[in-house]
Amino acid sequence: MIVCVCHRVSHHDIEREVRHGCASFEELQDELRVATACGRCGDCARDTFDAARACRPTAAESLAAKVARVIPIAPIAPATLAA
Ligand code: FES
Repeated sequence: MIVCVCHRVSHHDIEREVRHGCASFEELQDELRVATACGRCGDCARDTFDAARACRPTAAESLAAKVARVIPIAPIAPATLAA
């Protein structure tokens, strides 16, 4: 969905910026120029930004996903304990 017609910014563009670490709406505006011309998209852009931030994985989840891709974890065979 196009959020900002003036600068052709879609909700995917906003979500991508959030995934890449965009921390504030002002930073988003610096990157994409969303809501910096006529301003009619401001509420929708802010709602989309807030929703993307709310759904963003935590730092721990992001790190766990990266580590799982880099270090394949082999299945562990059960060990028997000798008496
Ligand atoms: S529609 Fe976004 S600034 Fe005009």
